[in-house]
Amino acid sequence: MIQHDFDEITDRRGTDSEKWNNYPPDVLPMWVADSDFKCPAPVIEALLERVRHGVFGYCKDDLGKIEKASAHWMRTRFGWDVRPEWVVFSPGVGTALSVAVSAFTNPGDYVVMMTPIYPPFFTAPAFNGRKALSSPLQAGKNGWEIDFDGLESLLAEARSKLLLLCNPHNPTGKLLSEGELLRTGELCLKHHVLVLSDEVHCDYVFGDRKHIPFSSLSPELADISLTAINPSKTFNLADLRTGGVISSSTPLRERYRTAVTNAKLGRSSLGLLAYEVAYTQCAYYVDQLVPYIKGNLDCAVDYINERIPGISVGMPEATYLLWLDCRGLGLSQKRLVEFFLREAKVALNSGLSFGPEGLGFMRLNAACPRAVLREGLARIERACRAFADKRGAPPPALKA
Ligand SMILES: Cc1ncc(COP(=O)(O)O)c(C=O)c1O
Repeated sequence: MIQHDFDEITDRRGTDSEKWNNYPPDVLPMWVADSDFKCPAPVIEALLERVRHGVFGYCKDDLGKIEKASAHWMRTRFGWDVRPEWVVFSPGVGTALSVAVSAFTNPGDYVVMMTPIYPPFFTAPAFNGRKALSSPLQAGKNGWEIDFDGLESLLAEARSKLLLLCNPHNPTGKLLSEGELLRTGELCLKHHVLVLSDEVHCDYVFGDRKHIPFSSLSPELADISLTAINPSKTFNLADLRTGGVISSSTPLRERYRTAVTNAKLGRSSLGLLAYEVAYTQCAYYVDQLVPYIKGNLDCAVDYINERIPGISVGMPEATYLLWLDCRGLGLSQKRLVEFFLREAKVALNSGLSFGPEGLGFMRLNAACPRAVLREGLARIERACRAFADKRGAPPPALKA
């Protein structure tokens, strides 16, 4: 069995990395949701061999590599019996959100989502002349809860045609339970709303909880839904622009396929190969990665709640993202973003980029070697302690 070294620190500067290119060298980037880990060794070996071949003309996947590999992963990891012919290639789940909005809704229609949310959920409707409707998650006793009455009132709107579901949920790290998925599905069936379920974070689930693909729950839900997956998050392959959209519903799938073909969203042989090798040969990597990430999250949650004044955080049920409640610092959002960048020297995502519910929050990406995570936390602690010492007085009221 290969042992992957998740403690290994790899310098990503100078590799066209969005995460590492955006800020000066003294700022530690903990924002964009990719990991800082090398991808699995079998993927690297397969890519090297393909690169050595040296010819990169147009690609055609005669063997259905992505389709078969997706079916294999869904069956072996989630017990969902996906047939390869249910899978349509998509160069990214972000792309799938946008394609689904244009394929399944008309200009002026409404697209529903649970907020705060990964920003392309609301930019996809906005850029396509549709309206995004937000159903805010509520902070409850047991973590983030769905306001089902509020959700139903949005789904019941005559122009609501599509629910963009995010499970596991970015940025809160919520994992929807079977009960929540079924209730959400019943409401969509009742109000004739289709579902695109973004499950790109499905492999990062902790403890006894299990990820349940929305479409796997019943034939009725399968008939109204498509599921978007990508090994990009799990195996750190986002640069290779792959993805798969799964639906057992022939009309939905073919409509989706037509939209992808129409936009000429093609595949690359490097992406195909990485996708296939990751999903068929690299389960060992995930089995080692998930406990490592859980260790990172445990370490960060304890550190923040015990040592950092003004910030609190709950343990996510899934994903490698921490949704930091920074309202205790009493800073406006603009100042909060500046505070992390200029005083703590760490780059986080502003909570407001995930919608108005993110006011006073910041998102921290913990998918990095533990030593790097500790360095980031120490920087935040130093800045927050200095800030608390300077301020002395209770924080002023929060404003945007
Ligand atoms: C919820 C969610 N969906 C989609 C994406 C983007 O996925 P892809 O790289 O497949 O476009 C991300 C990346 O951060 C994400 O968090």
